Amino acid sequence: MAHLPENSPTDPQSLLVIGGTSDIGRACALRFAEAGYTILLAGNDAESLAREADDIKARSGAAVSLHSLDILKTETFTDFIAQLPVLPDIVLTAEECTGDQHKAESDLDYSSMIMRANFESPALLLGLFAEKFTARNSGVLIGVSSVAGDRGCARNYVYGAAKAGLNAFLSGLRNRFGNSEIRVVTVKPGFVRTGPIENVSLPRFLTAEPRQVAQSVYRAAVTHRRDVVYAKSIWCLVSAIIAVIPESLFKRMHL
Ligand SMILES: NC(=O)c1ccc[n+]([C@@H]2O[C@H](COP(=O)([O-])OP(=O)(O)OC[C@H]3O[C@@H](n4cnc5c(N)ncnc54)[C@H](OP(=O)(O)O)[C@@H]3O)[C@@H](O)[C@H]2O)c1
Repeated sequence: MAHLPENSPTDPQSLLVIGGTSDIGRACALRFAEAGYTILLAGNDAESLAREADDIKARSGAAVSLHSLDILKTETFTDFIAQLPVLPDIVLTAEECTGDQHKAESDLDYSSMIMRANFESPALLLGLFAEKFTARNSGVLIGVSSVAGDRGCARNYVYGAAKAGLNAFLSGLRNRFGNSEIRVVTVKPGFVRTGPIENVSLPRFLTAEPRQVAQSVYRAAVTHRRDVVYAKSIWCLVSAIIAVIPESLFKRMHL
């Protein structure tokens, strides 16, 4: 395996965002940039990435580099990591394809794409970085997952099943590293006011803005060192209640 240059102790810390043009990814990049981090933005749309980088630089003065990555092309992951200018201190996956549940019910390829984008791809990438972090003995791996992974619901169970897989993978990684210098953070944002649900009417007390998610992620990764983080803590309670509803009742709720 090729060895990436590591930060020297005097270099600023660095954050790699996979899904650098997603609303949540962008907000996280900006939050860390404002705290002095160097930002590596990865995604599959060069134009949007460049626009995003200019905005982050203008607002924070941080250094931002751009990296091309199609999350579905898992065969490129090893080269993608080898070509980064530095082994990042923190890696965050925030890409997605929520997709259309109805279409996924009858279209095998489409369903597979949702599962790969939300489980296989982030899990494989974070697993590769885990190996690099093991060799360096430090680093933070952050997976943006979802409460949709806590219990399958009729309206989004293909996406939810993929996120459930990601939750288990992140939990396993965290268990593997225990109390070492390598940390793993699972982010379950709840409803977030982003592109896909911009025009959906959602209860305000359950809905966060992307910058609130970013603040929670920053706290969990840097200052408060949390394992699992919700943008709005009420989601922890909502999820716990949903989890204990008996299946015989749950199946009739059609959520
Ligand atoms: N929004 C919510 O309410 C909510 C709730 C819970 C969890 N989450 C999670 O939060 C994360 C971010 O969500 P978001 O709403 O901020 O996302 P978003 O704004 O909808 O953006 C989706 C991102 O995924 C990228 N993407 C899609 N296919 C890709 C591919 N093949 N290769 C590389 N990038 C690809 C898109 O890039 P292009 O535009 O370049 O294709 C875009 O940057 C996701 O993991 C999501 O599951 C969101």
